Amino acid sequence: MTTPPNTADYIVSRLGYIPRDARILDPCVGPGAFIKALLNRGVDPDQITAVDINEEHRMSIEEQGVTFITRDALLSLTPYSYNEFDFVVGNPPYLSKASEYIRKNKRSLQKIYGKIHSHEAYAMFIVNGIRRLRNGGKMAFIVSDSFMTVNTHANLRRYILKNCLIDEITLAPKSLFDSQGVNTSPAIIVLTKCVGREYESSRMVHTMRIVERVQSEDEYEHPRASASIPQSQYHLLPYKIFYTEIEPWILKLFRDSDSMKEHIRGYVGMHTMDNDKYIRPLSEVESDEDWKPYIKTGGADQYYRPVTEAVYLGDDDIPDGYLFPRDVPFGDEGIVISGISSRLAARYMPKGCYWDSNKAMGFFVVDENISIEYALGLLNSSLYNHLAKGILNRTNCVQLTDLHALPFVNPDDDTKSRVEELVKKIVTNKREHENFDYSSEQKQIDDIILNFHKKRFKTTEKMV
Ligand SMILES: C[S@@+](CC[C@H](N)C(=O)[O-])C[C@H]1O[C@@H](n2cnc3c(N)ncnc32)[C@H](O)[C@@H]1O
Repeated sequence: MTTPPNTADYIVSRLGYIPRDARILDPCVGPGAFIKALLNRGVDPDQITAVDINEEHRMSIEEQGVTFITRDALLSLTPYSYNEFDFVVGNPPYLSKASEYIRKNKRSLQKIYGKIHSHEAYAMFIVNGIRRLRNGGKMAFIVSDSFMTVNTHANLRRYILKNCLIDEITLAPKSLFDSQGVNTSPAIIVLTKCVGREYESSRMVHTMRIVERVQSEDEYEHPRASASIPQSQYHLLPYKIFYTEIEPWILKLFRDSDSMKEHIRGYVGMHTMDNDKYIRPLSEVESDEDWKPYIKTGGADQYYRPVTEAVYLGDDDIPDGYLFPRDVPFGDEGIVISGISSRLAARYMPKGCYWDSNKAMGFFVVDENISIEYALGLLNSSLYNHLAKGILNRTNCVQLTDLHALPFVNPDDDTKSRVEELVKKIVTNKREHENFDYSSEQKQIDDIILNFHKKRFKTTEKMV
């Protein structure tokens, strides 16, 4: 995957002034898109060090007067190679954890980058680049934008916030690598290394430039939408999400509210390890005490869905092989939330149920002021769907930790009773006809929940 010349030129331009004595590294040079861009800007070839694990382009790079080193840039990092460069620039390989390279070098990479807990090579290249920079040096990479939001990169984001000023994040065109048959969602990230406790306040007040997704390379210089926000704002969301377009009142909602866990608490479920043997249709075993209603499917159904399966829980001893988490209030009345679903989907869970650890999570209201009906309305509202699936986790998986990290605001009596009434109506009707059309009630719930939260947090005062 070669970086198109206009993008390489733009990235190099974001490094700012490059003094004659500065040392510059491209740690994964490939055919040298960034070498060309640097030379075009008048950088002297002897300022540049080009590294690649692959010898292929040595000749063409050396012909330009640039030093080429064949080396694994990730594995060759030692404390002796820290603080060596004034600038680091490049397009690191993505290489997921399933790639041969990552699998083969798992142990050694873990030793160097383990604390970051990111398993993609590009995330390790970010850490690698920062370490190789001297304090005050600048790095500009084009990478996948997934590090900005995905939970598994939370430690990487913490590392960046702790060690750098984020100068700029530009969401590059989605079509950038189309002609090379690669479908990506790239981001250009420009950082200045700024390590040390004494610079903590500088990092917090530092202003970042965030450029919304540009449609083509022509837009880099004059993007349609960009914002300047203090770096401290990236500390506000759970998992330190690097957002690009969240309304300020939603940030306040996260910042100034309790977390859901304090009011509505969830638990992962059990697993039989042999579902063919221990799970049966509920209708076949309904009168048998040894079998309990069991919820084991996810999906987008909301409010109510009949429980159709049962799990064997006969003896005092759980049959061998069951994975059975401790201290879970199985059997209590509550809510079940799909673990795999395109949207946040919460349903009423009657007394006596158990649930499977893969596709469902049991939730219980632990706040005596809140009813199951209100909780169902809140979790199924479009606002909460946006918070959970649009902000905290954009994948199809819904994780317990994401739901616990949602904000929770105690509703006023009017909001609470209006939502409860609408939810009761939906649940009652869905019990009778599974296909009950509740779109009009849902619209009302969406409006009530949104207006209540907006009114509380959308003020004109500036965020600090
Ligand atoms: C996405 S290409 C980028 C090439 C070039 N920088 C550009 O933008 O056109 C990534 C390059 O990283 C190299 N590479 C992969 N793993 C590496 C590693 N561990 N150390 C150094 N280079 C590596 C590959 O050989 C490839 O040339």
